[in-house]
Amino acid sequence: MFFISILLQLSLSAALASWSVSYKPHSICVFERSSVDFTCSFDYPSFHTIKTTKWFRPRKHQKQDGSQQGISVHHSEAAEIDQLYKNRTVYANQEKNCSLQLHNVSKSDIGKYFFRLETNFGKNTGSGGIYLNIAVLPFRVTVTTQKMNGRIHEGDHVTLRCSTENCTPEQGPFAWFKNQLLLPQATEKELRISSVSHNDFGNYSCGLKNSPSSADEILLDVRYRPKNVEITILTSGKIEQGNSLTLICKSNANPAVTNYTWFRIRDANISSIGFDCEFSIKAASQKDDGQYFCMAKNDMGSQNSTIVALKVEGSNRHFLLSATALLFFVIAVLLVLFGLNIRRKQFTPKKQPTKQTPAVTVTEEIYENLRKSPESEESHTNLIYADLNLPSSTSDRPHSNSQEADAVVYSLLIYK
Ligand SMILES: *[C@@H]1O[C@H](CO)[C@@H](O)[C@H](O)[C@H]1NC(C)=O
Ligand SMILES: *[C@@H]1O[C@H](CO)[C@@H](O)[C@H](O)[C@H]1NC(C)=O
Ligand SMILES: *[C@@H]1O[C@H](CO)[C@@H](O)[C@H](O)[C@H]1NC(C)=O
Ligand SMILES: *[C@@H]1O[C@H](CO)[C@@H](O)[C@H](O)[C@H]1NC(C)=O
Ligand SMILES: *[C@@H]1O[C@H](CO)[C@@H](O)[C@H](O)[C@H]1NC(C)=O
Ligand SMILES: *[C@@H]1O[C@H](CO)[C@@H](O)[C@H](O)[C@H]1NC(C)=O
Ligand SMILES: *[C@@H]1O[C@H](CO)[C@@H](O)[C@H](O)[C@H]1NC(C)=O
Repeated sequence: MFFISILLQLSLSAALASWSVSYKPHSICVFERSSVDFTCSFDYPSFHTIKTTKWFRPRKHQKQDGSQQGISVHHSEAAEIDQLYKNRTVYANQEKNCSLQLHNVSKSDIGKYFFRLETNFGKNTGSGGIYLNIAVLPFRVTVTTQKMNGRIHEGDHVTLRCSTENCTPEQGPFAWFKNQLLLPQATEKELRISSVSHNDFGNYSCGLKNSPSSADEILLDVRYRPKNVEITILTSGKIEQGNSLTLICKSNANPAVTNYTWFRIRDANISSIGFDCEFSIKAASQKDDGQYFCMAKNDMGSQNSTIVALKVEGSNRHFLLSATALLFFVIAVLLVLFGLNIRRKQFTPKKQPTKQTPAVTVTEEIYENLRKSPESEESHTNLIYADLNLPSSTSDRPHSNSQEADAVVYSLLIYK
């Protein structure tokens, strides 16, 4: 009796111990439309005969512990398979191998999956099951820092995490993009930057390598004080007297620069001269000479530009203008003087007779003394040469030289 009892207990425990189902993994995340492998193995008492193998999924309202069989995902009798899973499963169907492959998964497949074995003497559902979760695109990037307020400053430790809705598959390799350009070194699900710099500022996205997929971008908003502060000079021409000048203070800052200050150094004195992004000089003059620099400021701090030396040239145009004017003046004066001189020379002989009215009376006297030649009456064109009988030295006759006498003679030509 005692031996029988022990034998029975042994055989019972052996029979009980032989029922087993083991799943791998217990939880799995895959992308929509991909395939998933449920790795599974089972055991049962050796003297039993398998009647039915099945994979099932509890319905949403049912208990999720495998105690209630809901939808048949796989069944040794094909007719039992739910419409949802027809043609989408491949069952290993080997000795003690219950692995199942499920194709073209979608969000509706999310849930717990169990394997159940029924024999001629018993039945067993593997406890625990496998939880299937579906990663829904697009890929998203989340940023975490050690700080709580969320603002990222230079030097912070930053982690960018690539994720999808619901869950993120472990499968890789991942690809990272900064402003749409691939970062070749980054192939992990996480991108860690131990000390972030302003160069890391930009839009980040991620995805799977060699698998084009939609991706949302996130801005890594690294805050930093103004960098590369520099002055650009805008001018209408040369930096010379009378021209307008505009000095522009340019910089790279995040957030944008809120305050600008312009400084001029003159005789070792620094004075602030403006508070705008631009500093304008309407008409430059030598008094604008000096060294200039600007200071750009935002919430993170300030930075000064390098110094720019401004030297306003004396205007060449003005010099040319005054030189030309002077030249014209000199020419004009010379012309006037020259002209006066010529006039004097030209009018001197003519003025003489008019001036000396007594000469006219003289000629009148001479006319009276003309004697006509008799032949000249016929020919009209003939000139009549008159003999002049000039008074030898009358008192009212002008005192003149021989040339003047000639002039007097010509004026006495008479046309008939
Ligand atoms: C399902 O499988 C059967 C048999 O392999 C095949 O004839 C049928 O076209 C499949 N249906 C779909 C929707 O894939
Ligand atoms: C179980 O079957 C699957 C699919 O056929 C196979 O990949 C796997 O290697 C099998 N496992 C064992 C332990 O034989
Ligand atoms: C995969 O499933 C979706 C529905 O979830 C269906 O529209 C699509 O045609 C399926 N693709 C394949 C290759 O069967
Ligand atoms: C980042 O993306 C936003 C919106 O798409 C865009 O306005 C911005 O210019 C981008 N920044 C950079 C640095 O490319
Ligand atoms: C910066 O400019 C704002 C107005 O634009 C002014 O209220 C503020 O006082 C300025 N800050 C400094 C430090 O100059
Ligand atoms: C420079 O500053 C000193 C002290 O503030 C002042 O006495 C001097 O007049 C300044 N020079 C010029 C050229 O402004
Ligand atoms: C920029 O110049 C101003 C005026 O000289 C000075 O007060 C300030 O400390 C300078 N800032 C930096 C960052 O050098």
